[in-house]
Amino acid sequence: MMRVLLLGKLGQLGWELHRSLSPLGELIAVDYPEIDLSQPEQILQLVRRVQPAVIVNATAYTAVDRAESEPQAAMDINARAPGILAEEARTLGAGLVHFSTDYVFDGATDHPYIEADHPIPLGVYGQSKLEGERAIQACGGAYLILRTSWVYSLRRDSFVTKILSWARRQETLKVVSDQVGNPTWSRQLAEITAQLLAESIGNSAGWLAERAGLYHLAGSGYASRLEWAEAILRLDPRREEQVARQVLPALTADFPTPARRPLFSALNCDHFTSVFSLRLPTWQDALALALDADV
Ligand SMILES: NC(=O)c1ccc[n+]([C@@H]2O[C@H](COP(=O)([O-])OP(=O)(O)OC[C@H]3O[C@@H](n4cnc5c(N)ncnc54)[C@H](OP(=O)(O)O)[C@@H]3O)[C@@H](O)[C@H]2O)c1
Repeated sequence: MMRVLLLGKLGQLGWELHRSLSPLGELIAVDYPEIDLSQPEQILQLVRRVQPAVIVNATAYTAVDRAESEPQAAMDINARAPGILAEEARTLGAGLVHFSTDYVFDGATDHPYIEADHPIPLGVYGQSKLEGERAIQACGGAYLILRTSWVYSLRRDSFVTKILSWARRQETLKVVSDQVGNPTWSRQLAEITAQLLAESIGNSAGWLAERAGLYHLAGSGYASRLEWAEAILRLDPRREEQVARQVLPALTADFPTPARRPLFSALNCDHFTSVFSLRLPTWQDALALALDADV
């Protein structure tokens, strides 16, 4: 048994972590506005009061486009707060599990990225997440940074819920075919995180310190957004409600957005598997389970 502090319990991933971390022992789970990670003093007070064995940070400023006009807010939450958490964890002798993103890469490649590849973020969100990674790494200690990609949940607005909803209202969907990544079901990411932490019970900081580092962890295989959308429509358990008759390919350039997005940002997760002997299932299997679970 151990005491875990979960930050961001209402997010796509955080909500699933709230479920999957519960069996590990005493779980203190919080989110905004109970805790505002842009306020360093609040972070210090919370961590010092709870004295956890492990901190799991599922909070983030994830509004990729809005970040372009609110860079300070993105930096405070995605860069400064993780650094403070890492320092507090190290002082306490606690472990830290943090999540980062494929958007640290520019996507100008044709092979899945490994951890050693050089990050070149295209926007404020990716830059702020990269600085968060670096703040944790500079602090050292017992940390895991799990870089993931294209996270979805059926509970909050996500690519999957948007496609399902558009397919019930429009005969034709246009979806970009030139963005490629690994769709990752938030529930499976949460479950694998819980499995890791279960291994560490009794000596979490020591166990994590031995394996400390940055790992890519996302659904196995990769797809374009178009292929992902087609799979969502095919696996939709309530297909009879769809009015969509065709899904047409589009280009990222057809949908100008404030933030540029990487085109090919798939992650190679072999390093994670070699260290932990675990992997996330294929994105297709995960999607089928996710859609089934929502029925
Ligand atoms: N979503 C993706 O496609 C994706 C892809 C790659 C990596 N990731 C990473 O995966 C992790 C989880 O992402 P997610 O999709 O679960 O994010 P999410 O659904 O946006 O959840 C983030 C949570 O953080 C909270 N939060 C935001 N600002 C806060 C603040 N100032 N103080 C305290 N809490 C605050 C949010 O609260 P509000 O809802 O009230 O703002 C929300 O509950 C993040 O590290 C993210 O960068 C996500």
